[in-house]
Amino acid sequence: MTKTRLYSGMQPSAESLQIGNYIGALLPWKSLQQTHDAFFSIVDLHAITVAQDPTALRENTRRTAAQYIAAGIDPAASTLYVQSHVAAHAQLAWVLNTITGYGEASRMTQFKDKSARHGADATTVGLFAYPTLMAADILLYQTSLVPVGEDQRQHVELTRDLAARFNARFGDTFTIPEVAIQKETAKIYDLQNPLSKMSKSAESHAGVIWLLEDSAVTRKKIMRAVTDTDGGVVFDRENKPGVANLLTIYSVLAERSVQSLEDEYAGRGYGDLKKGLAEVVTSTFDPIRARVQELLDDPAELDRLLAVNAAHAAEVANETLATVYDRVGFLQPR
Ligand code: TYM
Repeated sequence: MTKTRLYSGMQPSAESLQIGNYIGALLPWKSLQQTHDAFFSIVDLHAITVAQDPTALRENTRRTAAQYIAAGIDPAASTLYVQSHVAAHAQLAWVLNTITGYGEASRMTQFKDKSARHGADATTVGLFAYPTLMAADILLYQTSLVPVGEDQRQHVELTRDLAARFNARFGDTFTIPEVAIQKETAKIYDLQNPLSKMSKSAESHAGVIWLLEDSAVTRKKIMRAVTDTDGGVVFDRENKPGVANLLTIYSVLAERSVQSLEDEYAGRGYGDLKKGLAEVVTSTFDPIRARVQELLDDPAELDRLLAVNAAHAAEVANETLATVYDRVGFLQPR
């Protein structure tokens, strides 16, 4: 039986991934890769929709690949590649731009947030077209399942609309993908501001746990995480968002139920909970960090792996692109 096709990606927009990327994406990817035909990209074309330093971008692309592998993505079992290595992404994105309404692209909440944050002068056409490039990523591979965090749901919904629109206009071409979002872990919050999503692009790093930071720094950030004055270790998202966030992270990484954590820490206060959590986080990330370093020490081997995987991705992608070019009426070059 052929395995169901799965696609997801991450931006190489920082030196390190943060714990939200790990919990919301890498962990689910790691288990899904066993049962699916999985494609995981490092989306450098997306990263340049906001200004990047070229040297840093190249380095962060390798670092992101190394973190995927160190966290358990197997480049022999899944297709792990760099988006710009497969030209078809930009080519399909252009075609999709021509069937996307200006109004519907304007309604994307990530675009509205980012353009507000960067200001009119730094808001580029590329940032506006970000979601159609993401749709191209997904549709090129005839993807059935897209595992992402909650913040990407609207982009996958747009992808579904575009696929259906193209199919209706030009004949059946694309598989309509489903979004897969794990409810409890779909959104990890900033430790200093437990009402807002933890993000690689946060202005202050005080509430962001990076995979590759020193464990002493991680421990300090966890001990300083914002909680409340109530003192009870109880999962209550509404009234105790800080504690609920710590319990979520703890529960996922320790593979324990929230209930068992509430029982263990009942009457012991937040200091103990934070100490326990810091232990779990650092013992998860210490070996990953060591493995990332090993991989980065041999960049030629890492680049070789990425090239092999990109060649496979290009084969699949080019087949879809050829059909699209034919359907829209492009003359084939002879
Ligand atoms: P990016 O790089 O912002 O984030 C990568 C993945 O991590 C998830 N995530 C989180 N999950 C839980 N809590 C958080 N605080 C948190 N922060 C980030 C994101 O939801 C995402 O799954 N546009 C995408 C990349 C992309 C893509 C694709 C994804 C490009 N093409 C095609 C799927 C399919 C992005 O910027 O992710």
